[in-house]
Amino acid sequence: MLSGRARIAGIIGWPVAHSLSPRLHGFWLRHYGIDGAYIPLPVAPQDLEAVVKALPKLGFAGANVTIPHKETVIAYLDHVAPLAQKVGAVNTLIVGPDGQISGLSTDGFGFLASLAASQPGWLASAGVAVVIGGGGAARAIVQALIEAGAPEIRLVNRTAARARALAEHLGGPITLIDWRDRAGALEGVSLLVNATSLGMRGEPPLNLALDALPREAVVADIVYVPLLTELLASAAARGNRVVDGLGMLLHQARPAFAAWFGTEPEVTAELKLSVLQAAQG
Ligand SMILES: NC(=O)c1ccc[n+]([C@@H]2O[C@H](COP(=O)([O-])OP(=O)(O)OC[C@H]3O[C@@H](n4cnc5c(N)ncnc54)[C@H](OP(=O)(O)O)[C@@H]3O)[C@@H](O)[C@H]2O)c1
Repeated sequence: MLSGRARIAGIIGWPVAHSLSPRLHGFWLRHYGIDGAYIPLPVAPQDLEAVVKALPKLGFAGANVTIPHKETVIAYLDHVAPLAQKVGAVNTLIVGPDGQISGLSTDGFGFLASLAASQPGWLASAGVAVVIGGGGAARAIVQALIEAGAPEIRLVNRTAARARALAEHLGGPITLIDWRDRAGALEGVSLLVNATSLGMRGEPPLNLALDALPREAVVADIVYVPLLTELLASAAARGNRVVDGLGMLLHQARPAFAAWFGTEPEVTAELKLSVLQAAQG
């Protein structure tokens, strides 16, 4: 039951009906008994500026921002955190007590927090990482790995120019690898990440021979429908430790929930199951 003092947040996207965030934040709101709500906000591109500027006037605590607004929203914010500036995208808005809107990017945090939760003791600084992909998710993950001290990041993307632009923009120890040479790039690495949409339900699988991948390497997929992608199944079958994409989705939401609703939420098996059921529905 909401009171007149309820804290309100939501997710701005176009379309937004597929988003799992209402389920995720709704679970936490119920679990912690918080007087608050989190709602889907379908906002067309031409309405984005007006909606963002209205958030403080409507008393919103903040909002998530998803496709196609993650980059364009930056122009309408009062503050953009340095990491979000670097990544060039924002997924979380926080309305301050003064009505000013700050933008953050929490995808990279979510990725690393999910790895840390699933593989205690794993350190980004301990070895070479291979990241497959060159889109927004890859950008956030590569930046997070750079900041966590990865000594080398081998970046492979189908469209080489996109990977090159990403590497030039972020700087850091990135080695560009041609798409056709991706299987060879796995030699000696300690982390392999699929940051493409390949392997998602309705998409072709990521076609990648794992023979050169050390058995000690961790394999992470950011796709979470299905939870066990073909990549993760093949990696697990040969003895590699695997991390699914749902953990990243759940962990990236933690800083936003804490800022809006004043409670540090926990990622639990019960939460994972609830969101997974919605994802598969
Ligand atoms: N788990 C999470 O929390 C989380 C967070 C963010 C995103 N995601 C998921 O991550 C995926 C990527 O998101 P994004 O925002 O980075 O999307 P994006 O900016 O559209 O990038 C898509 C990436 O997939 C590659 N790709 C797509 N089809 C391909 C194909 N047939 N062959 C080779 N490469 C292909 C693209 O390569 P080109 O550059 O060559 O087109 C690009 O690297 C999506 O499935 C998204 O749902 C998950």
